[in-house]
Amino acid sequence: MGKASVYAIGVVLLICSIAVGNAEYVLYKDPKRSIPSRIKDLMSRMTLEEKIGQMTQIDRTVASREVMKKYGIGSVLSGGGSVPAPQASPEAWINMVNDFQRGSLSTRLGIPMVYGIDAVHGNNNVYKATIFPHNVGLGATRDPDLVKRIGAATARETRATGINYAFAPCIAVCRDPRWGRCYESYSEDPNVVREMTEIISGLQGEVPAKYKGVPYLAGQQNVAACAKHYVGDGGTTKGINENNTAVSRHDLLAIHMAGYSPSIIKGVSTVMVSYSSWNGIKMHANRDLITGVLKGYLRFRGFVISDWEGIDRITSPPKANYTFSIMAGITAGIDMIMVPYNYTDFINGLHTLVKNKFIPMSRIDDAVQRILRVKFSMGLFEHPLADNSMAKYLGHPEHRELAREAVRKSLVLLKNGKYADKPLLPLPKTATKILVAGTHANNIGNQCGGWTIEWQGKTGNITTGTTILTAIKNTVDKKTDVVFNESPDSSFVKSNKFSYAIVVVGEPPYAETFGDSLNLTLPAEGLKTISMVCASVKCAVVLVTGRPVVIEPHLPVMDALVAAWLPGTEGQGVADVLFGDYGFSGKLPRTWFKTVDQLPMNVGDRHYDPLFPFEFGLTTKAVKAN
Ligand code: GLC
Repeated sequence: MGKASVYAIGVVLLICSIAVGNAEYVLYKDPKRSIPSRIKDLMSRMTLEEKIGQMTQIDRTVASREVMKKYGIGSVLSGGGSVPAPQASPEAWINMVNDFQRGSLSTRLGIPMVYGIDAVHGNNNVYKATIFPHNVGLGATRDPDLVKRIGAATARETRATGINYAFAPCIAVCRDPRWGRCYESYSEDPNVVREMTEIISGLQGEVPAKYKGVPYLAGQQNVAACAKHYVGDGGTTKGINENNTAVSRHDLLAIHMAGYSPSIIKGVSTVMVSYSSWNGIKMHANRDLITGVLKGYLRFRGFVISDWEGIDRITSPPKANYTFSIMAGITAGIDMIMVPYNYTDFINGLHTLVKNKFIPMSRIDDAVQRILRVKFSMGLFEHPLADNSMAKYLGHPEHRELAREAVRKSLVLLKNGKYADKPLLPLPKTATKILVAGTHANNIGNQCGGWTIEWQGKTGNITTGTTILTAIKNTVDKKTDVVFNESPDSSFVKSNKFSYAIVVVGEPPYAETFGDSLNLTLPAEGLKTISMVCASVKCAVVLVTGRPVVIEPHLPVMDALVAAWLPGTEGQGVADVLFGDYGFSGKLPRTWFKTVDQLPMNVGDRHYDPLFPFEFGLTTKAVKAN
């Protein structure tokens, strides 16, 4: 054999050996290896830039496959109402999420990104999703198992859109209903909030004994959860959103911290920091409570995420000194920053701080290890892309039935006057003619409240579901004439000789600071309808509000009063109970005040003089079908 042939064979053998070498074993990609060993191997391969990229979360509006690849971004989110298109289908959501993911998978190390969304009462940004009652209504059910089932359904409807991370549950303990986010809180009572962390076992799946206390995801029909907002978000002065919570350390731990330990034991993957301050110290800069208490004493092993522009608001005005904000937030122990727009400012700022040794590499490594621990525990490296197989779960009939059950159990009966020595409720299904009135009777947007389709929610026919009016029509006897008039005058009411009336009124949709209210009065239109109708005919008033409102002056004219909170899309649950197919069982999750100048006033306070006390709720029995 000539020299040339021997040489050629040698070259071929060398290329093959290189090729084989390139297909060498990569430990972090091996699902059979332990998560700690996969984290260690991957960390050892990462550059500082790649680590900082993992600590960065951006909104979908500034994300693209190219941006994900170039910066190695660790996470993308949909802020409230941030959708690929109005009324986008599950498939459109999946295509969008997968496109970003392909950018992440094309990076040097191929670390998949995690996509977060506020699925706080169902996958509520998404058109046709099942919208469950907001947390205040779930608190009224006192049913942790129900809430767990809602978590599982919410996870399926979130996965239906290709999304694997929900910024839920909010485990705030709202101590003042003047707070615009009080409906996101299960209760004023820390024990009720503690019980409702069971939703995490639904969202993420039930954590097996050996995994207790570490981030856990049962499978690809579950989503990573987020206990928020750490800590004391529900205790601010006068309920002013993002303001100061002036309480003792004892009360902070005994009241506002109540949900965090059970959440951690249940394997919650992430914790979101509160915008608020504790005794003047911004939570986003509070190293003692984030690193000392949450990561140290409570041994939280997932990752801590900031709120939206949360580090910007460490300074006043926000972003007055962004380098300082980055330094304060990362040093406090925050692991991932919800930037969400100017991500190069964050990336470059953090890089400079590390390079100049203002932030030690050990802090960066702690953050990235936590982020990777969550991603490995989610099975994200094995299942980075979504397929359309889950799309069928969006708005699934079984989920709507579950939401209807939750609505039924959330209703609190506050007054039930007697006629001919019979209580008004349950109402008779058979009557000659009945009136349904009020701004919230025939309005899906009003009955869902904030965080629905849009960040602030929106009045009107914004998604699919059953209005309370439709539910009433579905329930009464065919012979019963149901007349709807949103705001009737008294002559209309008198002239029609109705057998009885149902008045459904409440608050307009709102979210966060837009919901802060110092007077807590119902809109004038609703009050007018109550007086116009109830002065002339037997009336049951159904309040659709995110919290207790001023009602004492109007109570005498009402024959019956029901707190329905923010029931969501399944209004049938209201009619189920109004007409006796099911009994009233709900209990007040919050004290119902007489006047706002009593606030804050919570169960256990020395001076406690409510209109209706915490835990109050009249009951009725289901009426046997005749
Ligand atoms: C908001 C809220 C937080 C939410 C986040 C992302 O400002 O404070 O609850 O998860 O931003 O939308």
